[in-house]
Amino acid sequence: MRRTRESERPAPALTAEAVAYREAIGRFMAGVADGRGVLLPLLHALQEEFGHIDDALVPHVAEALNLSRADVHGVVTFYHDFRRQPAGRHVIKLCRAESCQARGGRAIERAAVERLGVAMGTTSADGRVTLEPVYCLGLCATGPNALVDGVPVSRIDGARLERLAAQVAA
Ligand code: FES
Repeated sequence: MRRTRESERPAPALTAEAVAYREAIGRFMAGVADGRGVLLPLLHALQEEFGHIDDALVPHVAEALNLSRADVHGVVTFYHDFRRQPAGRHVIKLCRAESCQARGGRAIERAAVERLGVAMGTTSADGRVTLEPVYCLGLCATGPNALVDGVPVSRIDGARLERLAAQVAA
């Protein structure tokens, strides 16, 4: 019996997830002149579409841009902007940049971690809330600041934090 050579074997069928990834990458790449300098914009677009950058996405991005998987993985893990797990129903981004820190941001972060019961950079076990750092929202004069489900919240103190906690508990 003749043995099938590697090159004659049909390629394994892509999962529905892989097809969705490839289609999204293809749509993005159709709008750019070439692959140079598009890694970050592409990752942002993919996070916008899928909610996070799953590890399974990395090989598809690497292939599309002719990069190594390690290169893509390195960028995804280096930038705080990229989420590697699905976000919770609510996302609170607390500013960790200098002005907000000088205005009490560190204490607010400690209080938020305790009040929400979720560590910075993680999502609560019930999927209710994700707490993430952000590095300056451009609202430095009114810190400490946060972005709560995309809405800026300024001058966060204990009372405002309590209201935010109630809001995300809903
Ligand atoms: S330092 Fe926090 S908004 Fe600029």
